Amino acid sequence: MAAGIDDISIFIPRLYMDARDFAEARGLDPQKLVKGLGVSKMAIVDANQDAACLAANACLKIMQKNKLSPEQIGRLYVATESSFDESKAMNSYVIGMLEQVYGDGSFQHCGGIECKFACVSGSYALYDNINWIRAGESEDKHALVVVSDIAKYDLGSSGEMTQGGGAIAMLLNESPRLLEFDPKVTSTSIKNEYDFYRPFGKETPIVHGQYSNLLYLIQVKNALIDYKRKALKTGLIVMKEGQSMLDHIDYFNMHLPYSNMGKKALAYLVRHELRSTPKWKEIIAEIGMEEPIPNDPRGTIESIISDLDFMTKDSEFTKRFVRTDTYQEIYENKVASSLIASKSIGNIYTASLYLGFRSCLEYEFQKGVNLDGKRFGFASYGSGSSAMVFSGVIQPEYIEIVKDMNLEAEIGERQKLSLSDYEELHENKRTPEQSILNAKKEFILEHVEKISSDKRGERRYAFVK
Ligand code: CAA
Repeated sequence: MAAGIDDISIFIPRLYMDARDFAEARGLDPQKLVKGLGVSKMAIVDANQDAACLAANACLKIMQKNKLSPEQIGRLYVATESSFDESKAMNSYVIGMLEQVYGDGSFQHCGGIECKFACVSGSYALYDNINWIRAGESEDKHALVVVSDIAKYDLGSSGEMTQGGGAIAMLLNESPRLLEFDPKVTSTSIKNEYDFYRPFGKETPIVHGQYSNLLYLIQVKNALIDYKRKALKTGLIVMKEGQSMLDHIDYFNMHLPYSNMGKKALAYLVRHELRSTPKWKEIIAEIGMEEPIPNDPRGTIESIISDLDFMTKDSEFTKRFVRTDTYQEIYENKVASSLIASKSIGNIYTASLYLGFRSCLEYEFQKGVNLDGKRFGFASYGSGSSAMVFSGVIQPEYIEIVKDMNLEAEIGERQKLSLSDYEELHENKRTPEQSILNAKKEFILEHVEKISSDKRGERRYAFVK
């Protein structure tokens, strides 16, 4: 049975920190953010927003747009790494908020859980719900998968320049207008790692930044190798002599902790793909240096990252590789549009991959490209760590959805934060009543109980008309 994404909605907090102001405050060259990382604005949550209300707002948008009633929704999953409760799942809060609009008990029939595996959990949630539909369990109901996160790092840490926040809701069903997933090719890779993690009770993660970058690349490559094996075995892709996967996937969407990570990941994966093709010799000649090989033959992540000689040469090789016409053509045609939205929003963890997908649809459509029948490859990564690679094909009805996409209009009027307001919000010095913006037609967090012992941690939300 077919299954895929029928529609997609986005909810981004309207407050933002400007990358140039931020760089100045932290004594950094603004070009490091703007050019080096591809970050120009970071969306920041107000004092009356949390990941649950971002998720509920994205759900409400997609339901209202598609005139869906709660009876038509059979599953509501939330994938997040911004959880605030060890037991009560975030989707229960979302259902509570939606029932303020649709009526008490209106979602009672609906199932779902909160999913966790850093930024990759949204992809696992998507896969599980797609299989619920494929298994014929949905009784013509839709599944809603919401990816919602607030990327928040310690003040003054190197992660602080890769923050952001927002939610994306995806409506799944068996006759999707947007994208149908390819069956039997979804591939994963997993390893117990400490590249980025957030122990109980800690609001910000412990991050080994460069280690996490390298681990991302290696895990995604491992999952891609398995994807290729499955795609060839199932006949999804039939490769002619001299071809690579690049000849069969029209667009790549990568997990985007920052926009330029998409470029980095593309370079790494394209190098891997082209290495065994006849074209590689020409590329090496154009680059003017041999591809470096790690000095330690074990090839473990620890041995690679501590091999400074190799890392320096490899970085030089990558710099030259991304300047080749071959890479530039692949980058422009298959990835560039997916990186645009991330620049002005920042990292939204679980939602970042899907923000890239959404961005690619909008900006390719604006360029006048016909996307009907195009295959999209997705490379999802979650620290800790696991990667998932899968693909799908754009459906003829996609225009119905994509023609109305307008990121700026959907975010609404944004307000730039001063450094002091940003730091006050970051350090939770404002209560929900002291929010900076006046909310309108959206769910907000009103109160978190801190005193009464039998109600401690209870959260109260409201829909502001
Ligand atoms: N002008 C232009 N470019 C500059 C520059 C300048 N003045 N100064 C530096 N740059 C470039 C660097 O050359 C580098 O480019 P390349 O990657 O192409 O080499 C880029 O800017 C970043 O510079 P650094 O690598 O020196 O940056 P850093 O080490 O200080 O921090 C980071 C970068 C590691 C990503 C850090 O922000 C961080 O830890 N972020 C949080 C963790 C993260 O996002 N990890 C990503 C992979 S893990 C994951 O994906 C899960 C997740 O969502 C967190």
